[in-house]
Amino acid sequence: MSAPAPRLARIGVLISGRGSNMEALAEGCERGDIPAKIVVVISHRAEAAGLERARARGLATAVIAPRDYADRSAFELELARRLQLHGVEWVCLAGFMRLLSREFLAEFPDRVVNIHPSLLPAFPGLDAQHQALVHGAKITGCTVHLVDSGLDSGPIVAQRAIEIDEDDTVESLSSRLLLAEHETYTRAMRLLLGEEWSTEGRRVRFRRGGEKDSESDC
Ligand code: GRF
Repeated sequence: MSAPAPRLARIGVLISGRGSNMEALAEGCERGDIPAKIVVVISHRAEAAGLERARARGLATAVIAPRDYADRSAFELELARRLQLHGVEWVCLAGFMRLLSREFLAEFPDRVVNIHPSLLPAFPGLDAQHQALVHGAKITGCTVHLVDSGLDSGPIVAQRAIEIDEDDTVESLSSRLLLAEHETYTRAMRLLLGEEWSTEGRRVRFRRGGEKDSESDC
């Protein structure tokens, strides 16, 4: 007799564009690195290339466009309803370029996660790689954090640092960073789903201290 399959958490992914982080999460789920399955990928933009990537993987997709709703609150109500219809327990933002309200977040308390291409709290908001270069930073990185109603301000789950080279451009830095993002998002979801943790003020505390699997992890 074989052991019963472990229960897989149900993830909904929200995207605005390319969707490479969504694919990294999907691959992590397929490999069994993340004990979860992606049950729906939703974009607010019909032209988001990530939707096609999701469909090619056989994932359910949906477009919910803000212009079809009276206001932000009606749009977010529909977004939450659709996620709940798919039984979503965890919402992963993957290049999702909209702020979410307290009301939306209250539907998924401590279960909305985001990836940002800087070592927060440095360089929040748009064009984080450009901000790091302009600032003359020697090190940048990526951050996975729980989402609150601020801009890239929620409790940090995992980070990864990378060095900025003398001749880096926004493009070269972004593409190196993207590889770190894919690995870090997968690792963060594995931790959140596989470890015991709690939030204490602004901190995410893992009972067993989390997991370190690279020298450049912070
Ligand atoms: C990533 O750099 C992510 O950190 C940022 O937007 C980009 C999205 O890329 N929020 P992709 O759509 O996941 O390829």
